[in-house]
Amino acid sequence: MCGIVAYVGHKPARSLLLEGLKRLEYRGYDSAGMALMDGSLKVTKTVGRVRVLEELLAQQPDFEGTTGMAHTRWATHGEPSDVNAHPHVDDPTRGHRIALVHNGIIENYAAIKTYLADRGHTFASETDTEVLTRLISELYAGDLETAVQAALREVTGAYAIVVMSEREPGVLVAARKGSPLMVGVGQDEYIVASDSSAIVAHTTQAITLEDYTVARVTRDSFRTTTIDNVPITPQVRELEFDLEQIELGDYEHFMLKEICEQPAALRRTLKGRIDVRDGQVVLGGIAEHARSLVRARRIIFLGQGTALHAAMVGEYLMEDLAKIPTEVEFASEFRYRNPIIEDRTVVIAISQSGETADTIAALQEAKQRGALALGLVNVVGSTVARETDAGIYLRVGPEIGVASTKAFLGQVMVATLLSTFIGRRRYLSGEYVSELLRELEALPERLERAVALSEEIRDVCRTYVERENWLFLGRGHNYPVALEGALKLKEISYIHAEGMPAAEMKHGPIALIDDGMPVVVLATRNSQYEKVVSNIQEVRSRGGHVIAVATEGDDAIREHCEDVFFVPDIPEPLQPMLTVVPLQLLAYHAAVLRGKDVDKPRNLAKSVTVE
Ligand code: M6R
Repeated sequence: MCGIVAYVGHKPARSLLLEGLKRLEYRGYDSAGMALMDGSLKVTKTVGRVRVLEELLAQQPDFEGTTGMAHTRWATHGEPSDVNAHPHVDDPTRGHRIALVHNGIIENYAAIKTYLADRGHTFASETDTEVLTRLISELYAGDLETAVQAALREVTGAYAIVVMSEREPGVLVAARKGSPLMVGVGQDEYIVASDSSAIVAHTTQAITLEDYTVARVTRDSFRTTTIDNVPITPQVRELEFDLEQIELGDYEHFMLKEICEQPAALRRTLKGRIDVRDGQVVLGGIAEHARSLVRARRIIFLGQGTALHAAMVGEYLMEDLAKIPTEVEFASEFRYRNPIIEDRTVVIAISQSGETADTIAALQEAKQRGALALGLVNVVGSTVARETDAGIYLRVGPEIGVASTKAFLGQVMVATLLSTFIGRRRYLSGEYVSELLRELEALPERLERAVALSEEIRDVCRTYVERENWLFLGRGHNYPVALEGALKLKEISYIHAEGMPAAEMKHGPIALIDDGMPVVVLATRNSQYEKVVSNIQEVRSRGGHVIAVATEGDDAIREHCEDVFFVPDIPEPLQPMLTVVPLQLLAYHAAVLRGKDVDKPRNLAKSVTVE
């Protein structure tokens, strides 16, 4: 949610910052801006995508400097507009020209604004960010780092910021609380960014800033302190990131690339974690908590969006395989409803980014109430990864498409491994687990067959793409997949879609079904197959058109539906990882056919770092 990149060094910063912004654009894309320092401070900003900013800068050959900052925005306070875009600057009449970029929300900005207005400040924008800029300006007495520390002691909320002042050329001051920020360490240069994708082209050495840390950076010096000016020793780590993973390559969209990458991604998720012969799951990251997990009385999964759907699959798996009572909660609801955490409760946060504010807040609440906290996270070193007692990384590689695809599979796979790990120590026999692991091992090859359905799915999609209302139905393990299919379709093609348990339809939503309404039904061979076929009849007898996802070899299903996509046969608990793929492809092709911006859907951002 909003991307920050800043540079101090010996190179011209403009092209480097533009390149960084393009890599960060998936974090927010309603406006963009840049500030450079070259004797004086220059700022250019605009509503629209990074390419609009690039076009504007192309008309300004003098817009150069070796210190600078840039921002791509996802609006919170104030509509997307030129004036609300970042960087924000202080009042030029004050003379110390300060520029600032910000991710997050300053919650007490209204009170600070009143205070500053009483002291003669005027405001050009509606943003909380401009208020913070003016506060730093108000507190500035010749040292930017000190002014930033003092200002941050006054604010509540979340922030990742970078600030520079015309009075202190070649100095960047960065700080974070609740929004991610890291500093790439190069040769006589530093790159500050909200995620590593803007850094890895230049260096793989980086420092992840902790909450309440302020960093003062020049081309040849770096120091970190708390907001109370207590020195902190920074830890430099190696970024595990391959540039190729964040390039589009031959694909038209990141979403399609990431759908097609799923077989390879899951091979990485599984690597070294399953011992088929002995029927054991090897999870080093949680080994020291194995006893607490085996003795757990209750498990609570937390997540939002797609991660929540993965958590719902996790609930089925945990109860099936580990036989521990399990619940799933929207992290955002859990946090604010006085949750009861009894002895031996384990809370498991699921998150691709590890930076989702709702999930982090819920996790903190659960920990405070005494739960053992685990994280199933993709981004290494992210906040969820750092704030949990232990965890398991998804290892699916960077996910750039705003619509989450391969992360869902990684999340479900890791939940499967965790449930099996616990189950094996409780009830499951070695033979049973060996068989299950053999199926997991074979899954990537089966996924390749599901991915190969792409063209067939596109052709079917053409028939229905103009329809504005769709239903997605599933039962048992496939119920969360129905929710996920509906979410995918909504978020990238803006078609209204609802997912629900197939049996629930007749309790109300059936009233929506009219002639030709597309109803996607997960109808694979499993314990509820016959019941699902009955639900299909209910749809068809009211004129709905059924698009089924069924098991290869089930030719009889053709009689019951207009269209069918066949996926390989696998055991019921593992089916979600396969049945979701045709739904991802359906959403993708629908969005492309409707001419939508698949990787940057309107109103969305990849990672929601505000509550
Ligand atoms: O990074 P997270 O997994 O915590 O993100 C959670 C949701 O914001 C995310 O899954 C969102 O729903 C996606 N846009 C879905 O495609």
